Amino acid sequence: MVDKYSTEIERVMISAEEIAVRLKEVAAKLDEYYEGREPVAICILKGSVVFYADLIRAMKTPVSVEFMKVSSYGFGTESSGKLSVSLDILSSIEGRDVLIVEDIIDSGNTMYALKNMLATRNPASIKIVTLLDKPARRVADISPDFTCFEIEDEFVIGYGLDYAEKYRNLPFVGILKCSVYEK
Ligand code: PRP
Repeated sequence: MVDKYSTEIERVMISAEEIAVRLKEVAAKLDEYYEGREPVAICILKGSVVFYADLIRAMKTPVSVEFMKVSSYGFGTESSGKLSVSLDILSSIEGRDVLIVEDIIDSGNTMYALKNMLATRNPASIKIVTLLDKPARRVADISPDFTCFEIEDEFVIGYGLDYAEKYRNLPFVGILKCSVYEK
């Protein structure tokens, strides 16, 4: 356990060491899939920033680096929701292979809307890689193509993921103590 926030962490779910091992495996799969190609890897801010930085360095494939900040709204029981884009990529993706790099897929609403939106820009392909997948919470009809860890329906923080903008700089994925939420 690292010092920062240590009194607020209930337990480590996925250690920094486990993450590093799994990232190498997933990076190798991505290298195999993209052999001979140079995809555009899009980091979905903010939660993906730590995963993204480690993943693209673990990959041998040359990638273009792009960043987006998006959120979904207006869903509920509808499968067609709206996507709010507060930061868009700077380059055209027409004819390019796009790799969306996400920290977590929960309801799937964000990824469903994002993938549809990017598809209108005529890329050659769109694939999704996620650090965490929570299939038990899925509402939208979307699945990641590459997953590092499938997890149960628990609220997780660390390694980019936040609670009220805290805990993103923890090196592991963990669970907070209940007392943190009660403050
Ligand atoms: C999180 C996460 C995904 C989305 C997943 O982002 O990074 O983008 O929620 O949820 P969904 O599958 O239910 O749509 P968040 O809006 O918390 O922003 P952040 O990455 O800046 O923390």
